Amino acid sequence: MRFIVTENYEEMSYIAAQETAKFIRENPKLVLGLSTGGTPLGTYQELIKLHEKEKLDFSQVVTFNLDEYIGLEPNHPQSYTRYTWDNFLSKVNIQKQNVHIPPGIFNDDKQVLKEYDQKMLEAGGIDVQVLGVGGNGHIGFNEPSELLNSHTHIASLTDKTIKDNARFFSNIEEVPRKAIAMGVGSILKAKHIIFIANGSEKADAVKKTFNGRITTDCPSSLLQLHANLTVILDKKAAKLLN
Ligand code: GLP
Repeated sequence: MRFIVTENYEEMSYIAAQETAKFIRENPKLVLGLSTGGTPLGTYQELIKLHEKEKLDFSQVVTFNLDEYIGLEPNHPQSYTRYTWDNFLSKVNIQKQNVHIPPGIFNDDKQVLKEYDQKMLEAGGIDVQVLGVGGNGHIGFNEPSELLNSHTHIASLTDKTIKDNARFFSNIEEVPRKAIAMGVGSILKAKHIIFIANGSEKADAVKKTFNGRITTDCPSSLLQLHANLTVILDKKAAKLLN
């Protein structure tokens, strides 16, 4: 486990992008796991800059998103499909067929879940996962619970997550209550994980992730078991770490 504590969000984002770019340069066919939310926005902006200024090449990169809200059309302003294309993928030279994001609208849930895992398997699993964390220690939408799912599944959002994510919607009622989420098994099988967190509101989750006991009550604490984890925090998120 490697810890990098930065001065601020911008520096965290810059370093996370440089780390990701290093992996892409080493392996142009990298299978990259993508996270959403506020945290990785700066990282994606830096990766776009690296594409524009240094010709970082995404033409063979394959991506898998961690999750998608159930019930949102792909072009809904708050869908993670729209988020990922608008904030990152439409601005680099990725090929559409290499992008995988779970659907928010579907008929056969079992089929959708099975297919997502199958595609990940066929791609050889995730090489590098960019990972944020929820204020309650959720990763992807794997929420604190007695039992966690290893595979892609339908996740119910906790009240805390619904409240936290309401800032992106016009009101809390609009926040979907369910999502399709990659399982913790797939996340932990990623060959490398780049974990990013910023701001004081993440300090407690960060402390529980790395200084606490490993428990499904804090899904991110399972990351302590990962062999190739790079943790990039701004100093506010790191302030409670021992
Ligand atoms: C969201 C996403 C997670 C993300 C987390 C933190 O609900 N499903 O993948 O890491 O919550 O979001 P933010 O970066 O906005 O704090």
